Parts: sequence; structure tokens; C-alpha cells
Amino acid sequence: MQVNPFNPYFPAPDHLFANRSKEQEFFKKGLFSGLAAHGGGPWNIALLGPWGIGKTSLLRRFVRIAENEKVEGKPVLTVNLSATSAYASFDEFARAFIRRLIDVVPKSKLAQEFEKWEFQSVRMGMVAVKRREEAPVEGTMEMLYRGMLSLWRESIEKKYAGMVVFIDDIQNLSEIHPKALLALRTLFQDLQGAGARYPLVVTGPETLFGAVREIAEPVTRFFERMPVLPFTFSDTEEAVRHPLNAVDSCLIIDKEVIQRVYEKTLGHPYFVSFVMRDLVDAAYQQNSQLSVGLLNGHWKVIISHLEMEKFEEEWRVCSPAERKVLAALVKQPHAPVTQTFGKQRGLLPRLIEKGLVRRKERGAYEVYHPLFAEFIRLIE
Ligand SMILES: Nc1ncnc2c1ncn2[C@@H]1O[C@H](COP(=O)(O)OP(=O)(O)OP(=O)(O)O)[C@@H](O)[C@H]1O
Ligand SMILES: [Mg+2]
Repeated sequence: MQVNPFNPYFPAPDHLFANRSKEQEFFKKGLFSGLAAHGGGPWNIALLGPWGIGKTSLLRRFVRIAENEKVEGKPVLTVNLSATSAYASFDEFARAFIRRLIDVVPKSKLAQEFEKWEFQSVRMGMVAVKRREEAPVEGTMEMLYRGMLSLWRESIEKKYAGMVVFIDDIQNLSEIHPKALLALRTLFQDLQGAGARYPLVVTGPETLFGAVREIAEPVTRFFERMPVLPFTFSDTEEAVRHPLNAVDSCLIIDKEVIQRVYEKTLGHPYFVSFVMRDLVDAAYQQNSQLSVGLLNGHWKVIISHLEMEKFEEEWRVCSPAERKVLAALVKQPHAPVTQTFGKQRGLLPRLIEKGLVRRKERGAYEVYHPLFAEFIRLIE
């Protein structure tokens, strides 16, 4: 049985991870200066990009790097958590975070303190009484600050260079509480002020810091932004070849296939992975190599699979007015916004938030990917 290494449904596992060497180098250097005992202190990164571009895959690669790195002879600890809007309050997120800290450093005083704190809040009926915005964050932040500082002093400082905190999809925290990012910035800044080395690495959409100016400005300055971009042509080649080599596949790949995959996907990692998954399945079934003939013959099947898995759902959740805007963007990509949409242009921010439209330069817009544009052209 031959293994198909492509899986667009999950972030890339470490042995199948391809590309992003510049980002990895940058991270290593920053990690070193951020964690050196007499350096400038922790350095925070925000990996920003649209859905499916590879943020979580890169974040996980950074976790691996940090785990394998030593700074001035000391190992580095990591704690990793995905933010989800399923948390009822910021407090619930904070508890999940502390539990993760305790998983990493189980025999700490924090574990005992947290147990007491949980017991007290249950007794006082505080757990999940207040939802979202109504719940104040100050008490939770104080508890996080005290907990993380005592963890640093008692369990981390002597043996480790520091602990890198990774939070995936941090935009979800702003949904739980509008000031969550500001509160986290204060927490990590205060910890740095007290000498604790907890660098923070997060992922989010490009619009992460854009929403509210008074929050956005200080939070933006707190993070070094690292945009996660589509693969170049040679990146796409590596993203195709590396996973196949990693599973010792015997498939021979035509260079022209890579060219065609790049042209169709524009190096978007999710689409590269999706197309390759179907193509490799077809090659195994038909006992074929990865030839242009196979790709051409199978392209319609791949596209209808993609429509079913992705585009139809995206279209379904759009209102009729939003669909009109999308169709107009596809029909007249170069027309000025005022002329194409009239009053309907008020719908653009929502479509950007949904990830279906992107802002180009100078007030021009486009649908997020040519394959989605092709789908709209077909159904309109
Ligand atoms: N560096 C990489 N090497 C190999 N495959 C990758 C890489 N980055 C992304 N992929 C592929 O792209 C897909 C999307 O990646 P990932 O889930 O990391 O993106 P994301 O930006 O976190 O998406 P979302 O916005 O949905 O959270 C993965 O399923 C994987 O197949
Ligand atoms: Mg992700």
C-alpha cells in the first residue's frame, strides 16, 4: 500500500513540513536574543495571514525549534494553546491556559495554588456565571500574573532559558472579550518588567490589529508582525516533492505538473495540498505517474471535489446581496468600487472579514482566490 502524504484538513505534521526557511531562521535568531540572560528581553511575534495559508503549521514548527534549541546552554520550555470562541469567558481561557502551564511544569507551586483558586471560585459560584464582555478581566489577569511569576521564579528561572507561549488563532480571544489582546499585552509586559522571560508567539488574520484603534495601536507595537505568504514556484515544488520523498513514494513527477499546480493554486498551501491529495490518489488508483496527462484528465474531478468541500459552503453562507457583490467583482475586476457596487459597497468589510474578498492596492478589491472566482463564474 502506498501512502498519500497530502492532507489539507490538518496542519502539516513536522516530517511533512516544507519551506519557510527564512521565517525559521528569523525565529531562531530572535529566540536566542530574546531568551539570553542579559539580552533585551522577550520578543513577541504575530504570524498573520488568511485562512489556510499555513499559520498553524508554521507555529508548530516554531514549537519544535524552541524545544530543540538551547540558549546559553539552557533548554527552552514551550506551552501551546489554541484560542477558540467556544470559551465562555476570558476567565475560562485563562484557566485552560494555566492547566497547560501545569502540564508543562507539573510539580510547581502554581499547581497547588490553582487547585485552591478553582476550589474557591466554585464555592463562590464564580465559574461561568458571567459570560463574555460582562465579566471583568482584572481579577483573572492578576491571577495569571501572580501564577506565571511564581512559576518563573520557582520552577523555570534556574534550569531553563525561558518559556515560549504559543497561542493559535488569537483573534478568537477578541471575540470573547474586546480587550483581551490589550490585557494579554499588559500581562506579558509586566512579566517582562519583573524579569520573567515568556516570549509570546501568536497567529491571526491580517486584520487582527485593525479593528479598534485604541486597542490596536499598543498591541501592534507589542508584536513583530511576520506575514505568512503563499508559496513561490520553487516553494510549491518543494511542497510537492518533500512530502512524497518523506513517505518514500515511487511516483515520478513531471516538472510541468508542478508548473500547472502552481498556476492553478498560486502557491496557496491549502489548495496545493488539496490538489496534490486528489492527484496522488488518482495516480495510485490508475497505476500512473504524476504526469500532465493525468492532471489534465483528472482536473474536472478535482475542481468539483473542491467545490463540494469548500466553495459551495462559502457561497451558501452569503446573503443574496453579498453574492451580487462577489459576482460583480469577478465580472469587472478593474472597475472602481463606487461604480461597480454603488450602495452595496458597504458589504465589502463583512466579505473581507469572512475571508472571501481581499483588498488590493488603492481601494481595489478581488475575491480571495482565482479558483473561487472560477467557481462564481460557473454558477452565475
Ligand atoms: N509549510 C508547509 N508544508 C507543507 N504543507 C503545508 C505547509 N503549510 C501549510 N501546509 C498545508 O496547508 C494546509 C493549511 O495549513 P494550516 O492549517 O497550517 O493553515 P492556517 O493558516 O493555520 O489555516 P486556518 O486559517 O484555517 O487556521 C495544511 O493542511 C497543509 O496541508
Ligand atoms: Mg490554523
